[in-house]
Amino acid sequence: MADQFAIELDKLYSRTIATPPTAPDVILFNLREETIVMVNQLIMFKNEIFKALEACKGLGILPAILVDHVRREADRFVGTLERSKTNQQTRTRERLGLMDGGRFAQTVPRLLYNRLPSEQLFTVAIEESMFFSRTHSEHAEHLSMSFRPEVQESYRQTAIRFKNDYQNLMLQAKEVENTGTQLRALLDENRKLSFAFRDYLTRILDEISTCRIPTGQTNFPPLLADHMRREVIYFIDILDRIQVR
Ligand SMILES: [Fe+2]
Repeated sequence: MADQFAIELDKLYSRTIATPPTAPDVILFNLREETIVMVNQLIMFKNEIFKALEACKGLGILPAILVDHVRREADRFVGTLERSKTNQQTRTRERLGLMDGGRFAQTVPRLLYNRLPSEQLFTVAIEESMFFSRTHSEHAEHLSMSFRPEVQESYRQTAIRFKNDYQNLMLQAKEVENTGTQLRALLDENRKLSFAFRDYLTRILDEISTCRIPTGQTNFPPLLADHMRREVIYFIDILDRIQVR
């Protein structure tokens, strides 16, 4: 089933990037609709796998938390697509793994930030900080468990530092939300840490692909490091677009 999803999503991806933004609305809207339907099915599939792993009803090499992580990423994605469609908030914070879970998350597409009133932009900034601090903290933790013992120790240590730093920023985001102050400082720290994490991931990817990493290989596929690098670049773009007034 996972393979089938990969094949279908890959086709959808190719069609999407081949469609110019100037295409007729009906084509764009259909693409969005198809994406929502397909990714919603993928979310259900990921959720089933997560539950099976957690309850020891399924065995796999992926940690359950990683499956939950990719489910949250998919939920955030569909949340933004649905928000762009009807302006409705369809994902609770809990579903996206954010603190203060009962409320609906904003999931505003980043291209619309410049239209938001400052109070709403504040909430968007907090939620995206929470979401991506958690995401990158989990990425770093997964890396720290996947480097080879002893021979890649310094890589593991650095990954653990990133995990802890992002975890702290996640807690800090909650604090900023509670007090309503220090948002700019929070965003600056997120930016600084994310530049460093991006550089670290870029270096790892380069060392893996040229076999210069100690022993020449790692216990995780290069594509995973690439996923993490792309996701941190995406977060930096979000931070750039949040212009705190
Ligand atoms: Fe991820």
